[in-house]
Amino acid sequence: MMVLPGMRSGATRPGAITDDAITPDTGVATTMEIRFLGHAAFEFSDGDTSVLIDPFLTGNPKAAIAADELHPQAILLTHGHGDHIGDTVPIAKRACADVVAIVEIANELSGDGVEQVHDPNLGGTVTLDWGSVKLVPAWHTSTTPKGTANVPAGLIVRFAGKTIYHLGDTALFSDMRLIGETEAPIDVALMCIGGHYTMDRHDAVTAAKLIGAKQVIPCHYDTFPLIETDAHAFKAEVQAGGASEVVVLAPGETHTP
Ligand code: NI
Ligand code: MN
Repeated sequence: MMVLPGMRSGATRPGAITDDAITPDTGVATTMEIRFLGHAAFEFSDGDTSVLIDPFLTGNPKAAIAADELHPQAILLTHGHGDHIGDTVPIAKRACADVVAIVEIANELSGDGVEQVHDPNLGGTVTLDWGSVKLVPAWHTSTTPKGTANVPAGLIVRFAGKTIYHLGDTALFSDMRLIGETEAPIDVALMCIGGHYTMDRHDAVTAAKLIGAKQVIPCHYDTFPLIETDAHAFKAEVQAGGASEVVVLAPGETHTP
């Protein structure tokens, strides 16, 4: 059947609907999957719409899929480092995808010929036909591979009735508690734990407590030797504190929150 943008195909996977998947505002049953693509790259999908975050696939030793196999409606970027901006330009051009990135990166992408670019700054929200994304602070540095300086962000994504917080690359900071309170309830936090370039798994245990998401999926570890860590030890420590359930995904695995 023809499915127009923003239209539900109706045929949802049998057994995928739970009471928890009924959005309170519309009563419409929705369900979504989060697929870990390796490093900090994720795909959110509800069967009609695909949203990518930080699609670093080419050159990613843990990539679960090739860039040309993806057909997203939107690509969301936390910051411009090569292990996050990745394959954004070729995927966006081929798929005619919307791209949301902080203004300095957005300007570079426009200059590279990406047509549907949205350029918020920290605190700003971009609403598209599938949901919205808000940029929140992250403590990190960033220039793009082409040399454009940019301020890193975390992303609050609302999609298919769920709220997902991708922390981006960041150190631990106390305003994670404010973000957790302001955006509550957060269904899933996608959290860097690998250390060296971001907070390590010990600081990430504190981050999980501050944010208070229902579930945490760790990322940005084991891609390279410098960021190897023990995700299962992280899981045990977070769950011992009762803060959140931790779901460890191998690249390519999916999770339905
Ligand atoms: Ni980075
Ligand atoms: Mn990174």
